[in-house]
Amino acid sequence: TSALPDGYSMRPLQRNDFSNSFLDVLRVLTQVGEVTRDEFESRFDQMKASTGGYHILVILDGEGKIVGTGALIVERKFIHHLGLVGHIEDIAVAKDQQGKKLGLRIIQALDYVAENVGCYKTILDCSEANEGFYVKCGFKRAGLEMAHYY
Ligand code: ACO
Repeated sequence: TSALPDGYSMRPLQRNDFSNSFLDVLRVLTQVGEVTRDEFESRFDQMKASTGGYHILVILDGEGKIVGTGALIVERKFIHHLGLVGHIEDIAVAKDQQGKKLGLRIIQALDYVAENVGCYKTILDCSEANEGFYVKCGFKRAGLEMAHYY
C-alpha cells in the first residue's frame, strides 16, 4: 500500500510553514542555524521563482504539524538532448516519527514528480548508514560523491 498513516497528509511546502516546525524537522538531518521568518520567506520566494526547479514536500501529522520533508531539484542540461536530472535532497523525518514509512512515502512522491516532469534519472548523495533505506526506495549505488567545502 502507498498510504500514509491515518490522519497524515502530504503537500508542497508553503510560505507560512516557517511557524510549523519545518526547520526543526530539518535539524534531525544537519545544522540549520538561526533563520528568521524574513530569511525563510525570501529563500522560499527565490526557490519558487526558479522555473520548475524546486519541489519541496512536507508530511503533516493528524494535528497538522510538519513531521517529514524532502526536496526534488530539477536540473536542466544541454546534454542528453536537453535532458532533466532530478536531485533528491534534504530528506528528514522527525525522530519520534521514524519507522512509519514516512521517508519512503516522501521519496516515492518526489520520484513521481521527477518522472512526470520528464527527468531521465534521479540521483542523491547519502551516508553508508542510509544506503539500506534508499535501496528499499528503489535506488542503487552509482558513482562516488566528492566535495570541496569552503
Ligand atoms: N538503513 C537501512 N534500512 C533503513 C534505514 C537505514 N538507515 N532507515 C529506514 N530503513 C528501512 C526501514 O526499515 C523500512 O524498511 P521495511 O519496508 O522493510 O520496513 C524502509 O527503509 C522505509 O523506512 P521508513 O520508515 O520510510 O524510514 P523513515 O521514515 O524512518 O525515514 C530517514 C528514513 C529519512 C533516513 C530518517 O531516518 C531520517 O530522517 N534520518 C535522519 C536524517 C537523514 O539521515 N536523512 C537522509 C539524508 S540523505 C538525503 O537527504 C539525500
